[in-house]
Amino acid sequence: MYGYNRQDQLPVRSAPASRPIKRHHTARYYAHRVRESLTTRLSKIICTIFLGLVLIMGLVAFILWLGLRPHRPRIHIHDFSLPGLGQETGFENAQIAFNVTVRNSNQNIGIYYGDMDGSVYYKDQKIGSTPLHPQFYQEPKSTIVMATVLSGATLTVNSQRWREFMNDRTKGTVIFRLQLTSTIRFKIYTWVSRHHPMHADCDVSVGPNGLILQTSKDHRCLAYFF
Ligand SMILES: *[C@@H]1O[C@H](CO)[C@@H](O)[C@H](O)[C@H]1NC(C)=O
Repeated sequence: MYGYNRQDQLPVRSAPASRPIKRHHTARYYAHRVRESLTTRLSKIICTIFLGLVLIMGLVAFILWLGLRPHRPRIHIHDFSLPGLGQETGFENAQIAFNVTVRNSNQNIGIYYGDMDGSVYYKDQKIGSTPLHPQFYQEPKSTIVMATVLSGATLTVNSQRWREFMNDRTKGTVIFRLQLTSTIRFKIYTWVSRHHPMHADCDVSVGPNGLILQTSKDHRCLAYFF
């Protein structure tokens, strides 16, 4: 009976006999899971710290960039004149005088300019060109005046072109384009950028008296650098 009982119980015991194995498995499983969740938590924390650092560094870089972002030079045209525009034979000693200012509006960035040239275009054809300034360095927040006169060898205006001017003049305006070309390098503290070719275009209208029209005076020229 007892034996039977034991034998009876055996199957009962043997049925949960699979349980200890399961329990053992579960314990290992939990240990594994605990270890796993620890590493997950650790890697999550590391990830969070890392992402936080990246974010902060990005923010700092963005703020620095905002503060140090180089602005192109600001170029304004103040004067442009063609004396003798009203005279039939004006081309014989034609002159073009202009006055532009070049401003470095950056707070902390200096600009090194290569040799700067000025050219005058009429209907997209170059009619004159001259060196404006040899290479120079421009301090932050400073302005330089460039004023010159094109004539003789630096200005090629024949009688036919002059007639075109005269023709435009009877309509009220003669339109020219003044172009400044140079190369620029930005200086940020001790670091100096590579050379960037730069050019600025100023559209300018001249009235019948040969003087710049109010609509063009003190206008900002479009400046590009690459
Ligand atoms: C050129 O224009 C600037 C700004 O208007 C002026 O201060 C300067 O005296 C002018 N220079 C010449 C030579 O006309």
